[in-house]
Amino acid sequence: MEADGATAQRHWEKVWSARPAEQMSWFEPVPTVSLDMIVAAEVPLDAHIVDIGGGASTLADALLDAGYRHLTVVDLAAAGLDVARERLGRRADQVEWVVADVRSWRPSAPVDCWHDRAVLHFLLDLPDRDAYVASLRAALSPAGVVIIGTFAPDGPTHCSGLPVVRYDSANLATLLGPDFTLSSAARHAHRTPSGAEQSFQYATFRRAQPHG
Ligand SMILES: C[S@@+](CC[C@H](N)C(=O)[O-])C[C@H]1O[C@@H](n2cnc3c(N)ncnc32)[C@H](O)[C@@H]1O
Repeated sequence: MEADGATAQRHWEKVWSARPAEQMSWFEPVPTVSLDMIVAAEVPLDAHIVDIGGGASTLADALLDAGYRHLTVVDLAAAGLDVARERLGRRADQVEWVVADVRSWRPSAPVDCWHDRAVLHFLLDLPDRDAYVASLRAALSPAGVVIIGTFAPDGPTHCSGLPVVRYDSANLATLLGPDFTLSSAARHAHRTPSGAEQSFQYATFRRAQPHG
């Protein structure tokens, strides 16, 4: 699925247009774990934070509320971003909204914090995951922080009708490679709007400073 960007884009445009964002299984009224991990990683208020595959996520709202000023939300589907933009009203102007595929996206300025909840796990093929990591490496500042949330090994095998790859923090560390250091990890039971429980793995990594 994700091997073909146009097909994936069509899928996600359709998904976001089909029903209200609050009814999507991944919807969170407050993105508590993401926020806690960003704060715990001591990401400063003037940091450039990107939410990869943010769609209609409420993370941008929460980060603006917390005082963050340099936010970018990247998503393959404009329809998800439109929902977030409409919800934020005038505050949407404080966020950069980018319709792009994470596998080829490059920022105009280095990113201090890369956040991804429920996006990486859709990349099934090795070349796609390699492209994801190449984008992350190209975007991230030398001391940058990476926070990734995926379905955990005991989580769902599918989301939005698509198969996913499930990760624990060790698998995520292997994917990112030796110049990223795992600094914290958390399991989280996400409650979907219909009441089901989904097991997520979150992990925070720091880019290791080259030894001088
Ligand atoms: C399950 S939703 C998660 C949305 C949001 N991160 C959240 O936690 O509420 C997955 C999102 O990733 C986006 N997406 C999927 N593949 C992508 C890709 N290759 N590049 C950028 N965004 C992508 C979809 O459009 C969708 O908005």
